[in-house]
Amino acid sequence: MTVAARTPVLLALECSARGEASVSRQMGRLLTAALAECDLQIELRARDLAALPLPAVSADFAQALVTPPERLGARERASCALSDELIAELEQTDLLLITSPMHNYTVPVVLKAWIDHVVRRGASFRTTPQGKVGLLRDRPTLVAVSAGGSIFEDQAQQPDFFRPYLAAVLRAIGITDVRFVAFERATAHADPLTAAARFTREWIAANLPEVSA
Ligand SMILES: Cc1cc2nc3c(=O)[nH]c(=O)nc-3n(C[C@H](O)[C@H](O)[C@H](O)COP(=O)(O)O)c2cc1C
Repeated sequence: MTVAARTPVLLALECSARGEASVSRQMGRLLTAALAECDLQIELRARDLAALPLPAVSADFAQALVTPPERLGARERASCALSDELIAELEQTDLLLITSPMHNYTVPVVLKAWIDHVVRRGASFRTTPQGKVGLLRDRPTLVAVSAGGSIFEDQAQQPDFFRPYLAAVLRAIGITDVRFVAFERATAHADPLTAAARFTREWIAANLPEVSA
């Protein structure tokens, strides 16, 4: 994992509604602290998608996605403003951190809303006969995900649509340097926060020494 030579910007997208009790948010704080230790100049930015949920896509935005830019009406153009802002925010990001619970085998609705605004034809990907080609530069991305049950281990009891799905949509816009820090069986622990902290510290020790400015 390599990061830019200038002061890196870390954007944390936080998706759990559970605030201080959130396992994935705590994992994110530990990962952020470890990354900051590697590079004291790191600039931290956060977007709390649970506290300030993004709107679902509108009819105007859906129409804008299938309209050539020169034929966009004023309402359709205006409907792209939030998407433009979110894509610009992502473009300014050197390290992306997504912290999220697993919800019904996949991403929670607040993260899906971010995806629907950011994965946009002509803005963050283009279509080719071979499929979608990302228009954003690649950047190191960490995803701290917490699940209540068995879902990430080899003999998992549940299907995992979270990691393959998120990896696919990030790949569609050009982000392929993605690592998952996946904590499971949170509900099996009397103290999930302590268990997740131990798990995350072990992951950091095994994986993050190579992160350098
Ligand atoms: C709406 C909802 C759906 C959930 N779906 C799943 C699921 O499909 N599989 C699973 O293992 N845990 C599921 N859980 C449990 C959470 O993934 C688990 O409690 C996780 O640790 C929460 O992370 P957080 O503390 O960061 O919010 C679900 C929880 C909620 C609220």
